[in-house]
Amino acid sequence: MKVLLVGGGGREHAIAWAVSKSPRCEKLYAAPGNAGIAELAECVDISVMDAESLVSFAKEKGVDFCIVAPDDPLAAGVADAFLDAGIKTFGPRKNAAIIEASKAFSKDLMKKYDIPCAASETFDDADKALEYLKTLDAPYVIKADGLALGKGVLICNTLREAEDGIKEIMIDKKFGDAGDKVVIEEFMTGREVSVLCFSDGKTILPMTSAQDHKRAGDGDTGLNTGGMGTFSPSPFYTEEIAKFCEENVYKRTISAMASEGREFKGVLFCGLMLTEKGPKVLEFNARFGDPEAQVVIPRMKNDMLDVMEACVDGTLDKIDLEFDDGAAVCVMLASEGYPVSYKKGYEITGLDKFNEKEGYFAFHSGTKFAFKSATDGEPEKKVVVTNGGRVLGVTALGSTLLEARANAYKATEWVDFENKYMRNDIGKAIDDDK
Ligand code: AMP
Ligand code: GLY
Repeated sequence: MKVLLVGGGGREHAIAWAVSKSPRCEKLYAAPGNAGIAELAECVDISVMDAESLVSFAKEKGVDFCIVAPDDPLAAGVADAFLDAGIKTFGPRKNAAIIEASKAFSKDLMKKYDIPCAASETFDDADKALEYLKTLDAPYVIKADGLALGKGVLICNTLREAEDGIKEIMIDKKFGDAGDKVVIEEFMTGREVSVLCFSDGKTILPMTSAQDHKRAGDGDTGLNTGGMGTFSPSPFYTEEIAKFCEENVYKRTISAMASEGREFKGVLFCGLMLTEKGPKVLEFNARFGDPEAQVVIPRMKNDMLDVMEACVDGTLDKIDLEFDDGAAVCVMLASEGYPVSYKKGYEITGLDKFNEKEGYFAFHSGTKFAFKSATDGEPEKKVVVTNGGRVLGVTALGSTLLEARANAYKATEWVDFENKYMRNDIGKAIDDDK
């Protein structure tokens, strides 16, 4: 099978690793890919949003199977473009990806189909939103309706802050059209867990659980980021909770989407909060999480192409999804200053020390190739350099979470680049479980 993977971050590197292992993968292309993906796939410089060029490239190369991994192209209908061109494609159509692309849509869906979530109100008028805020107590949770690079959720401790937030989103349009509407939501407390599920529109198969660390600094301080590290499985996601979520969240959501005429094929990412009153949905995403994929995929035993194809063909009920009994931890190596401002272009060393057979992975998030000019006695050479805020997801396996965490932190020392920054407490919650 010839496969085209759309995307170029750490999540896509993990997907590329799994797909390239499949004996059925005869050729893998990635658009645009990155320096890590380039070890596994032929990278082509086409934007993830350029549906027309992606489809013509796929046709020209005789691609049999496409995978659309990131949120923006899914929300913009890139999967539709491939499907409409007659190419088998993994990833939901635009009318189903709306479950991530509009928080107002997903809240309406959850309310209509009795899927447990925080109480909320949606507003398209800033004055009404500001009036409503006055009837609530702190903390206030405000969400821009649309996609905002993971930055569209504000948790405000004072009314003043919340009012400023509404103004920034709805009047100043900090996130553009994504702020045409806002959702104001009840504040919940509890452990967070991410459960990614494969879906063929009828059958939904949850993967092993994971937990993300969204804040930039140790102890969950600092700004929200795209994710600074993950661990899998979550010890707090018990069998009892899993059973509850299967019935009340995953199956119910997939059948709700089908009833609405929005068949969901792909990965449904359920961000859950385990509250005192039971698990509640924080958000849905229409794709693998990043960096959840970097800990979940290395633990998956199945052939990735078999499972993805079953999602497209509607035969997921025939798949027995299996994960290893161990654990994985991913520590994100970022550029100092992320998520605000940071420098790029620094050489990365130590990548040759990672051996996936020993359970160590360096999934590239923001990297690219560059040429280092010749110096005395050394010829010009091609090197990997930093090319983003999040640079590498250092993932390690272990038989327990503690072992996986120790392995991952050990492996972070193998890698070096200028302005390297990481959190030192990824998986600290594991200690509370003892
Ligand atoms: P979301 O993008 O909706 O997952 O929100 C980003 C983060 O904001 C979540 O991972 C939570 O930590 C936090 N959050 C979102 N909604 C709520 C809520 N209703 N109560 C408390 N925290 C929340
Ligand atoms: N790690 C959260 C996300 O992918 O949205």
